[in-house]
Amino acid sequence: MIIAVCSLSGAPGVTSLATALAACWPSTPLTVPILVEADASGGDVASWHGIDLGQRPEGLVSLAAASRATFQTAQVDADDSPSAFTPLLRHATELPGGLRVVSAPSDPLEASRAVDVLAQSPGLLRTGRVTIVDVGRAVPGSAGAALLRHADVAVVLTDVTDVGHAHRLRVCAPVLASLRHDGVRVGLALTGACPYSDAEASEVAAQIPVWSRIPRDESGAALVRGEHRPPTRMRDRWGAWWARRSGSESLEWMPLIKTAKALSELCDDFSGLGVGAGVGRPVRRPQEVEAA
Ligand SMILES: Nc1ncnc2c1ncn2[C@@H]1O[C@H](COP(=O)(O)OP(=O)(O)OP(=O)(O)O)[C@@H](O)[C@H]1O
Ligand SMILES: [Mg+2]
Repeated sequence: MIIAVCSLSGAPGVTSLATALAACWPSTPLTVPILVEADASGGDVASWHGIDLGQRPEGLVSLAAASRATFQTAQVDADDSPSAFTPLLRHATELPGGLRVVSAPSDPLEASRAVDVLAQSPGLLRTGRVTIVDVGRAVPGSAGAALLRHADVAVVLTDVTDVGHAHRLRVCAPVLASLRHDGVRVGLALTGACPYSDAEASEVAAQIPVWSRIPRDESGAALVRGEHRPPTRMRDRWGAWWARRSGSESLEWMPLIKTAKALSELCDDFSGLGVGAGVGRPVRRPQEVEAA
């Protein structure tokens, strides 16, 4: 399953949300979520986590080269067996905490070349059971937008309280909505203190549904960047204190992490597999999943 996360303008937190989604994905021994940073404008994850791509063979560039080679020889079929994880995993680095990430070079020229290749031959992306792709800005006509067509689910992150972002969303919405004809489920994740209802926000966006509202969360964003920042808001301090006191290792006291977890569960339900169902999460009825 491929879950693409993208924006249309600005830097609303695509890499942060994609990373949090991958980290929170409802996992089983067979599910190894892999984050692929396929942002043509250059990656951030390597610098956030101190990965020296110059010293490592694996990353987006090696994935693109392997994808092209695979495309030229034989198409890779999606397969549910554990061994099918391997081709994509070969290009991933394991972050502290266990998240596997295929990181993009920070040089936009190198990154955009790799994304172009990947958009033309995305077969290897399908070899992971759950692949979260940070597409960056996916404006129509870009390689990022081409990548969206290969996704099963696309999450468009936008701040509709910003006039420029809202206008861009309105203009691009018909193209995003057309992804549905290719079988891609498309939904919005709203950032900023959005005063509009889900229905009002959807109306701006050719009826693309709102799946999530991403809270501002300095601690959660820092965690995703590989930094530690103690909670400052009273509510978060209570949450952190309560989690520690009850001996919980859960990081869901951080609003960003809690929201990403809920969104990952919704996306997981779309797969029809619901691999994490029954492990302490509400069971969503098929009608609810269809409505989303
Ligand atoms: N929910 C959030 N709350 C607070 N800060 C956030 C949140 N999400 C992201 N940030 C911060 O905002 C900055 C931009 O985030 P991020 O790099 O994820 O955005 P992006 O959309 O991927 O940007 P770019 O287009 O540059 O790749 C980072 O410093 C990140 O830590
Ligand atoms: Mg980014």
